[in-house]
Amino acid sequence: MDLDYAMLGHLTQIFGPSGSEERVADFISALLSPYCDELKTDILGNLIVMRHGTGKKIMVATHMDEIGLMITHIDKQGFLRFTPLGGVRIPYLVGQRVQLSKGRIGTIGVEKLDKIGDYKLDKLYLDIGVASRKEAEQFVCIGETAVFVGNFIESGSRIISKALDDRIGCFVAMEALKRTKSTHELAFVFTVQEEIGTRGAQTAAYALEPDLAIAVDVTLTGDTPKAHPMSVELGSGVGIKVLDHSMITSPQIKRWMAAVATDLNIPFQWEVLEYGGTDSGAIHLSRGGVPSGVLSIPTRYVHSPAEMLDKRDVEAAVDLLVALLERPTEL
Ligand code: CO
Ligand code: ZN
Repeated sequence: MDLDYAMLGHLTQIFGPSGSEERVADFISALLSPYCDELKTDILGNLIVMRHGTGKKIMVATHMDEIGLMITHIDKQGFLRFTPLGGVRIPYLVGQRVQLSKGRIGTIGVEKLDKIGDYKLDKLYLDIGVASRKEAEQFVCIGETAVFVGNFIESGSRIISKALDDRIGCFVAMEALKRTKSTHELAFVFTVQEEIGTRGAQTAAYALEPDLAIAVDVTLTGDTPKAHPMSVELGSGVGIKVLDHSMITSPQIKRWMAAVATDLNIPFQWEVLEYGGTDSGAIHLSRGGVPSGVLSIPTRYVHSPAEMLDKRDVEAAVDLLVALLERPTEL
């Protein structure tokens, strides 16, 4: 399959922490406008891309936001303090480069610690290479945000980058929309604020009232040294979610996804995720309930600047999403 990985490279590098997804939305809008009938942004900032049809109304949800930091304080010497936006993991922070919304890059440092257990977020600071608060204020003000710096690299069949959670989902959705010949009513929603509690998906699902929904997001794996036991690994196919902390997948959706994958020889893995959730968690509870499922991309080091996934799983995800959108569902 001929996927546009150069485009994925651009997509991962766009600045887009929760609440500041506009640049990601602009990039996706520009690329998808030739492939859709209607394109709009709702009040929260979700980008909604419609392809009209006559069958079921299918919502495909992927989130544009990435985890980040919000600046809370600037001291006299120009050091910045911050609060997390989403599931930031402290061991991943120290020594990392992060980029502020206006482009300035700094390093995260840590105070002298008396005990290793003192490794708390409030012991960390961001050093943007200035000598005073006044100088710092040329580059940042309170409430502005920052994201990891993390180049996009192709390493054999693997991809390494920041923000693969969930630009890879956006990418899979975009590639599927380009390819699909579905005659259903399709609503591709590129959501905001997933990382701080699936907020964009909640309002979008309410407004759209879909007949069913499919989210595409990353999931964890159990294939690294002494990993928590989990039957998902890189390179063995797209994940079909069974359960996470936000949802139990409806049985009809699970059966439908697995039957189509089996029929077309698309490799898939059953995914049980013991932590976290996705946009489907919010969507399936919308109004009277929406039958919902998730296609998951197995990913190592999620929420780090160097998340890693495998192209073969991405290709399986695109293949399966295209097929699901075209096959009439028995729901
Ligand atoms: Co995430
Ligand atoms: Zn995600």
